[in-house]
Amino acid sequence: MPPTGGSLARRRSRVRTAVTALTATVAATIGLVSLAGTANAANTLGAAAASSGRYFGAAVAANHLGESQYAATFDTEFNAVTPENEMKWDATERSRGSFSFGAADQIVSNAQAHGMKIRGHTLVWHNQLPGWVSNLSASDLQSAMDNHITQVMTHFKGKIYAWDVVNEAFADGGSGQHRSSPFQDKLGNGFIEHAFRTAHSVDSNAKLCYNDYNIENWTDAKTQGVYNMVKDFKSRGVPIDCVGFQSHFGSSGPPSSFQTTLSNFAALGVDVQLTELDIAQAPATAYTNTVKACLSVARCTGITVWGVTDKYSWRSGDNPLLFDGSYNKKAAYTAVLNALNAGGVTTPPTTPSTSPPTTPPTTPPTTPPTSGPLCTASYAVTNSWAGGYQVDVTVKSTGTAALSAWTVSWSQPTGQTISQMWNAVQGTSGALTTAHNTSYNGSVAPGATTSFGYLVDTGQTPPSALQLSCTFT
Ligand code: G3I
Repeated sequence: MPPTGGSLARRRSRVRTAVTALTATVAATIGLVSLAGTANAANTLGAAAASSGRYFGAAVAANHLGESQYAATFDTEFNAVTPENEMKWDATERSRGSFSFGAADQIVSNAQAHGMKIRGHTLVWHNQLPGWVSNLSASDLQSAMDNHITQVMTHFKGKIYAWDVVNEAFADGGSGQHRSSPFQDKLGNGFIEHAFRTAHSVDSNAKLCYNDYNIENWTDAKTQGVYNMVKDFKSRGVPIDCVGFQSHFGSSGPPSSFQTTLSNFAALGVDVQLTELDIAQAPATAYTNTVKACLSVARCTGITVWGVTDKYSWRSGDNPLLFDGSYNKKAAYTAVLNALNAGGVTTPPTTPSTSPPTTPPTTPPTTPPTSGPLCTASYAVTNSWAGGYQVDVTVKSTGTAALSAWTVSWSQPTGQTISQMWNAVQGTSGALTTAHNTSYNGSVAPGATTSFGYLVDTGQTPPSALQLSCTFT
């Protein structure tokens, strides 16, 4: 659990020098940009976020939904919800095999009635864990964890947009390793992968997230530890779809590297989400910087503040939220609304026009003849928006014999990092970027073509042309 209240502020002021405000990159005027003050500026947080295809949610407590101002503020302003405590293990399976979902169902039903996205929080966490779990043997713990994941996800199946499958499994400080917990100590490092694979087997439609705090600063060991885990998971096909950055900040707000962190994680091929945002004393600038960091990364799909009102914040005394104890909008609220509505809002690509195939084509290409393979590659920008663009490259077999493999190489414009590539394996050759065929599209008959694509979401505009070279390799 993150340090609370004043200790958080002290900790961050100890650890971090004054945060320089993120220089907002002025987005190019390509794509959908809605400007503050224009007729289409939204007047609620959820609607403003939705204008860029995102959500803006809040954590809620079922026992406050009966309070009219609480419910009215939440239902009006937000378009996503996370149950603050009602889906945790101590609330849903207080004793082994006995499940209760009443409070969680109340939150889910209210959210569904208001067309909100629902984040499930959380399936595997060392905190708020009933005592009976911690005392189990390793094999018993494994089956109890699998059953918990299965029963809880099955109960909510079809209603959950994203699950925090595992929460806060990495240690604070400089180790970059997993923290000690009953799961880690008895099941070892593999418990996280196992939890994700189990979750995927129950509901492959929900986004499966790893969620943690103090992973917002790029150079922190904990951030790097989580990054390396996600990179490993993606390389081995472990079903992980997103990373939740809790974003519990002291009064200085996010670290200056926050946007870099979000962008680097997104480049691994996962969504990034700000899942528990609150900032000590709610400085307007700090909230603005936080929202802009998300809006500058196409795969930052949404933001959740950890509570509706200061009145019930877990950080009592820090007044970290957007509404005060009397449900008045604070300066931070206006700052967030303007940041969501203002220029620089990016429209995340819904899906690449040539959607990356989930499985290789069923009919394997014919066996090619053996000699004279040649190829050319042509570049086309197929989609562009304020935060970036999408490229499609066509590889043509121009020789007298089919290709059995190919590699395209080019000099990628400086600072325009490729965030994801499909239908090819990305690599480098010296200073060049390369794209090599996959197992299912290396063979191309004479005169035939194949294609691959990639996304760049660092906010630049695409080059009008790109010199590609294609070799038979
Ligand atoms: O439900 C009991 C109630 O029966 C009892 O009368 C009352 C008084 O003892 O306690 C109630 O449980 C409290 C629970 O919230 C539900 O209100 C716990 O004492 C209290 O510790 C618990 O605090 C929650 C905390 O997680 C626990 O770790 C906070 O509300 C919640 O905001 C906070 O949220 C976590 C995220 O899940 C994960 N990330 C960090 C974040 C802040 O710690």
